Parts: sequence; structure tokens; C-alpha cells
Amino acid sequence: MKAVVYTKYGPPDVLQLQDVAKPSPQAREVLIKVHATTVTIGDCRMRSFTVPPEQWLFARLYLGVWKPRRKILGMELAGVIEAVGREVTRFKVGDPVFASTFEVGFGGYAEYKCLTEDGLLAIKPAALSYGEAAAAVGGGATALRCLRRANVQPGQKVLIYGASGAVGTNAVQLARNLFGAEVTGVCSAANLDLVRSLGAADVVDYTRHDFTAQGRFYDVVFDAVAKFPAAQARQAVQPGGVYLNVHRDAHAKRGVPNQELLELKELLEAGKFKPVIDRVYPLEQIVAAHRYVDQGHKKGNVVIRVGSLG
Ligand SMILES: NC(=O)c1ccc[n+]([C@@H]2O[C@H](COP(=O)([O-])OP(=O)(O)OC[C@H]3O[C@@H](n4cnc5c(N)ncnc54)[C@H](OP(=O)(O)O)[C@@H]3O)[C@@H](O)[C@H]2O)c1
Repeated sequence: MKAVVYTKYGPPDVLQLQDVAKPSPQAREVLIKVHATTVTIGDCRMRSFTVPPEQWLFARLYLGVWKPRRKILGMELAGVIEAVGREVTRFKVGDPVFASTFEVGFGGYAEYKCLTEDGLLAIKPAALSYGEAAAAVGGGATALRCLRRANVQPGQKVLIYGASGAVGTNAVQLARNLFGAEVTGVCSAANLDLVRSLGAADVVDYTRHDFTAQGRFYDVVFDAVAKFPAAQARQAVQPGGVYLNVHRDAHAKRGVPNQELLELKELLEAGKFKPVIDRVYPLEQIVAAHRYVDQGHKKGNVVIRVGSLG
């Protein structure tokens, strides 16, 4: 099968399209024919090994000290089950699925991926394309986890900083449509209309205005790109309100492994959020896709087409 492999850390062109062995499912695994995966800023950081100093040692040990140990990136995917192991009961051949590969060493940048049936895997929401379904996984779960921590109540004022990114675009929609909040989105001028269209009642252009200097206060301030000084952001939080930071507050709770993915599926089916797709690149153009995401200005998500997007 074709897969994008990297054998050293570095710029986008360390990613190489190669022929590698097609995996076959173990007894409790399914073999997924991948139709779509994504490029996230996290993929780019793993490729280039650009991590904060405090995470350097852990990341080096996990990803590989001298060179990448997990050679195929791609943290989220959607596709169709092509084969099942003999003990699989929850899925059958032909099922359309979406999945996270975050806990199994990645691997979305490939034509096929095996996952255990009780891993982070669920039937794809029918109304979504494979690209949309893949893109909903990481950014959707992260936005939901963070907002849940703040126990947002209907009518509360929620400010999302970095409202145009993968996490931010989902956070704006979920804050409004799931929690019933009145949302202010902070983004640059080019993204004001997008963020309004996602349901923000108010928008602030961060290149022209400092949201903490406008005399407005919020029940929740969520920095969804971790790019605004925390102490300063807290100044815009009402007494008794909550400050959230995507780097600090997005950790998954331990529990039923794919409960979160099933919840995302329900929210997607109920129209509570829909991932924003900025660009789609074929797998062969993964280097161009990484170059684009490296710039840090994507709007929502960048999808990689591996098969048919449906
Ligand atoms: N996506 C995931 O699945 C996921 C999961 C867990 C954690 N995270 C973490 O969450 C953070 C955000 O991830 P992401 O995927 O949402 O990022 P992203 O999509 O790559 O963020 C890009 C967006 O951030 C905006 N932006 C850039 N600099 C900004 C600034 N100084 N102020 C406000 N907005 C700015 C850009 O808008 P402009 O072009 O207008 O500047 C662009 O739309 C990352 O640190 C990531 O590691 C992400």
C-alpha cells in the first residue's frame, strides 16, 4: 500500500510517499481502507520536532530519540472497513467509520490502517463526507472537553480566542449550539465573517483590538490556540468565571475508550457543529499540505484525500 513515511525530523519534505506492507487485522482488529485524514499543527510539530522545552524529554522518548519511531503520522481518519478479525463483533465489512489514531501511534497517512474494534472508532455520521468526519475528531473532542470543564450555562458570555483554528471553529459552534452561550470570537480580519457564520454574536479582530482592554467581561475565556498571555486573558474573566487554555485543559478523562467519539457522532448528527474545511490535498501532495499548515493560518481543518471523500 501507499503511505507517507518520515524517517528523520525536519521540514515538510522529510515526508515521503512510499510503498509499505499492507497490514492485516489481528483477531480483534478491523482493517480500514482510509478515505481521508488530516494535517494538524500537531502533525507538523511531530514532523519537525518543534515542542516546548518542558515537553522535550517526554516527546523525544515517545516519538523517538534520534529519529521518528512512529514513522507514519496522521492522528484522525475516516474510511470503510475492508476486513475484520475473527473475534470482531461490533463492526462488519463495508461499515463507514471515523477514528482517532492518537493512542495507537498515529498512522492516518496511509491507504490502510488496523484498529482494535474497541479503540477510538465509531460509525461515521451519515451526513458528513469522509473528509469532514476525519476532521471532526481531534478538534471536536478538544473543544468539547475544554468547554465541559467550564460547565457553561445557557446565556453565559463565552469568549473564544483563536476562533478560526480547528479547535476554535468547533468551540464557537459548540459553545452556542450545545451550551446555549452568547459567543464572542477573536480572530484576524480575514476570518471575521467565517467566525460570525459559525454563530458568534460578536467578533474581535486581534490584529487591531485587545479584547482585554475593551471593558467587557466574560463568564468563560477560552484560549483555543494558546497564543494569548494567560494572566492578561484572566483580566477579562468575570469574578467566579473560568479561564480555559487548550494546552492545559484538553486532557481526556480515562473511561470508556470511545464514549467521546460516540458523543461527537451524536452532536454531528444533531447539527450542533460541523468541521470547517479550509483546503483538501491528495495524499501525493502531503508536503504542500504540511507547508501550508506550518504557516499557522489555516481556517479550521486541512484534509488529505486518500480515497474517495464521498
Ligand atoms: N486540532 C486538534 O486536534 C488539537 C488537539 C489537541 C490540542 N490542540 C492544540 O490546540 C492548539 C490549536 O490547535 P488548532 O488545530 O486549532 O490550530 P490551528 O488550526 O493550526 O490554528 C490556526 C488558526 O489560529 C489562528 N491564529 C494564529 N495565531 C493567532 C493569534 N496570535 N491569535 C489568534 N489566533 C491566531 C489563525 O488565524 P489567523 O490566520 O487569523 O492568525 C488560524 O486560523 C494547538 O496548540 C494544538 O496543538 C489541537
